[in-house]
Amino acid sequence: KGCKLVGCGSSVPNLQVSNDDLSKIVDTNDEWISVRTGIRNRRVLTGKDRMTGLAIEAAQKALKMADVDPDDVDLVLLCTSTPDDLFGSAPQIQAGLGCKGNPLAFDITAACSGFILGLVSASCYIRGGGFRNVLVIGADALSRYVDWTDRGTCILFGDAAGAVLLQACESEEDGMFGFDLHSDGEGNRHLNASIKENETEDLFGTNGTIPGFPPKSSSYSYVQMNGKEVFKFACRVVPQSIELALQNAGLTRSSIDWLLLHQANQRILDGVATRLEIPTERVISNLANYGNTSAASIPLALDEAVRSGKIKSGETIAAAGFGAGLTWGSAIIRW
Ligand code: ACO
Repeated sequence: KGCKLVGCGSSVPNLQVSNDDLSKIVDTNDEWISVRTGIRNRRVLTGKDRMTGLAIEAAQKALKMADVDPDDVDLVLLCTSTPDDLFGSAPQIQAGLGCKGNPLAFDITAACSGFILGLVSASCYIRGGGFRNVLVIGADALSRYVDWTDRGTCILFGDAAGAVLLQACESEEDGMFGFDLHSDGEGNRHLNASIKENETEDLFGTNGTIPGFPPKSSSYSYVQMNGKEVFKFACRVVPQSIELALQNAGLTRSSIDWLLLHQANQRILDGVATRLEIPTERVISNLANYGNTSAASIPLALDEAVRSGKIKSGETIAAAGFGAGLTWGSAIIRW
């Protein structure tokens, strides 16, 4: 059984924050940020706006491009590490889209690798049978989890959502050629936003008779990152992963029309492209405008490249995500 990409869409918040804007709140400047990262602007959610709102808009655009009715969606996979609801936000998106065909909807948490994991999962659901139209949405609002006084991290991230619709098709039309996925929990210390004990007073005071019970409520710490380690990790594992995905697809580097990596840092994009001997003009990059939007970055960049006419129907894309977990993975796909 085959599956193919039939639609894409994206959505970003209205508020644009430039490097100069950031230099007013932390000790940094446009030159430092753009030379080290390639980032110049990012979008940030404000007020009552939510990640799910962006995700719904991105998914609506993908459905419109594919000319598929929300009622015909069988599965909604939301790839996010910043859910609006700790119990999962995908069902809210299902409801927001008005999908009345009784679909399944759930979250996948794998930070900046989330979209690739979601895409591969979607293909497995379709190939397994029973699922025909699967929405894969990458959406994150890391602005809510970064420490805006930490210049080492706050300059990197932005908020966005991107979506694709993957559809069952005949095997000769198959557009998901091969993949490669990994994780390494030992590397978690290099990049995390882990649970912490809430500093607020224990709701029940200290009069409990069972030591340690009742527990205090929990919250999460800001994004913690060892930038140098993450940088080295990405430059090491991403080329290997793309080579493995190509092997699994029975293809070689020469089949790649476009390199579409998680948009974390221009130097990582350049380093991976050099290792794979892919010319700069074949590398998709939009991080100057949006920064690192975590699970949203690949579908956001895909959507922009498709709508601008850069990526054309029938072209082969090597897509790869990498990030917290640590997790990483690649998929060789046809648009
Ligand atoms: N502005 C000015 N100076 C700064 C800033 C800043 N925003 N941030 C750090 N500096 C200073 C440091 O304090 C340090 O000063 P010192 O030499 O006086 O001590 C100096 O600049 C160098 O700092 P480094 O952290 O060593 O800088 P580095 O060259 O490693 O660049 C960066 C940092 C851009 C974060 C880089 O390591 C990187 O991009 N790493 C990859 C990060 C990444 O992609 N993370 C996302 C993963 S995706 C996910 O899953 C969330």
